Amino acid sequence: MELAAEQDQIEAIDLGDLSLWVNGPPHQVFDRLRREAPLHWSEMAGWENETGFWSITRAEDVHAVSRDWESFSSERGGILAADHSVPIEFQNAMFIGMDPPRHDRIKGLFQRGFTPKRIADHEHQIRSITNRFLDELEGRDDFDLVADVAQPIVGRVIGSFLGTPEEDDATWADFANRGLALGDDDLQPEGENTVLELIEQGIMRIIQMAAERRDHPTDDLTSLLVHAEIDGERLEDYEIASGFALLVSAGNDSTKATYSSGMLALLQDPVQMQRLVNDPDLIPGAVEEFLRMFPAFAHFRRTATRDIEMHGKTIREGDKVILWYAASNRDEDRFSCPHQMDIERNPDHQAFGAGGRHFCLGTALARLELGILFAETLKRYPNLELAEQPEAVRSLFANQPRSVRVRVNI
Ligand code: HEM
Repeated sequence: MELAAEQDQIEAIDLGDLSLWVNGPPHQVFDRLRREAPLHWSEMAGWENETGFWSITRAEDVHAVSRDWESFSSERGGILAADHSVPIEFQNAMFIGMDPPRHDRIKGLFQRGFTPKRIADHEHQIRSITNRFLDELEGRDDFDLVADVAQPIVGRVIGSFLGTPEEDDATWADFANRGLALGDDDLQPEGENTVLELIEQGIMRIIQMAAERRDHPTDDLTSLLVHAEIDGERLEDYEIASGFALLVSAGNDSTKATYSSGMLALLQDPVQMQRLVNDPDLIPGAVEEFLRMFPAFAHFRRTATRDIEMHGKTIREGDKVILWYAASNRDEDRFSCPHQMDIERNPDHQAFGAGGRHFCLGTALARLELGILFAETLKRYPNLELAEQPEAVRSLFANQPRSVRVRVNI
């Protein structure tokens, strides 16, 4: 009887219920799902015109589903749990929302911009951007690590890598924040530009930039892309533009989230903070632990292309299937004491995806950028203190604190 009640209860859980997400991902619920219902159905009851979804929470299942693109499509229903957040046509125009062979052709061309050499060549610029924005904080007793540090730095780093002008950084950040809010109304105030309007403005600017680079090449990514060829084929302007929108969104919110969550965790754990301040060589390993504990994107979605049996249940063709990285990264079968941060754990996590076709293109850039951000912040400010208890962004997708206000202790 008790068992039945518990079973009922777990079936009644709706991960689309935003009240579960007030403090970030609902880790206790995920713990239960991994243990008791590794394939679980949520209704998304509170969402207008949305159908429910299947949740995948165990690391080994996330790995298997990520690799099976023929059964689990990124194209058919897009990449987000909510159908109505970013128009499907726009998701399908970005290679993250395509299946092979289209996906592979376009990703292959973009990959040329992300060679280890091009990324290493950018190190100096990332460090100087980081220091320029940190310099601007000189003399202040308190500031916000999200709005004053992470946002302007990550926006300029991705902008400088792509070749977009600095005056566009704020618009692109706005686009990324709104597009990825998925539930958080504060990130989508009414009466301002809609995601669609921001997309249109951005696309027009990139098409214009691509035309300029065609005539006057530079060494930025836009130039590389307009001139890149595979088997005599080139990217169309709209393919470049939507790929850019993808890179700007992925490059903005992701590193901002990981930096902000990692700094917050350190501020709440002075012992591990001091270890990093004393030994900056530990920073690259610590970054991996921050990625594991606080994956910037709580989920990505697939859509089933056929009926599939899993854990005794049937996923029907056309059903939404959600890969919860926020859950799989804390799978106790893979990590001991998964909710405990250990900066020397060096985990093999799934924050960048779990392999397969859609594995993150920006891993090397993100790791380099995060390493520099943490190193420069801790070098200048070894004694920061939390000024207030931060709130999490209330979103099924964007996993990050809204702000992290700190006081400077001399
Ligand atoms: C902390 C940093 C980052 C995290 C946690 C992260 C996470 C992810 C994840 C989980 C995916 C897989 C999507 C899926 O399964 O459908 C992904 C894909 C992608 N990421 Fe990242 N990302 C980060 C940084 C970046 C950066 C800096 C860039 C680019 C500048 C980037 C570009 C991309 C692109 C283009 C894809 C799509 C790949 C494809 O569909 O083949 N990411 N990222």
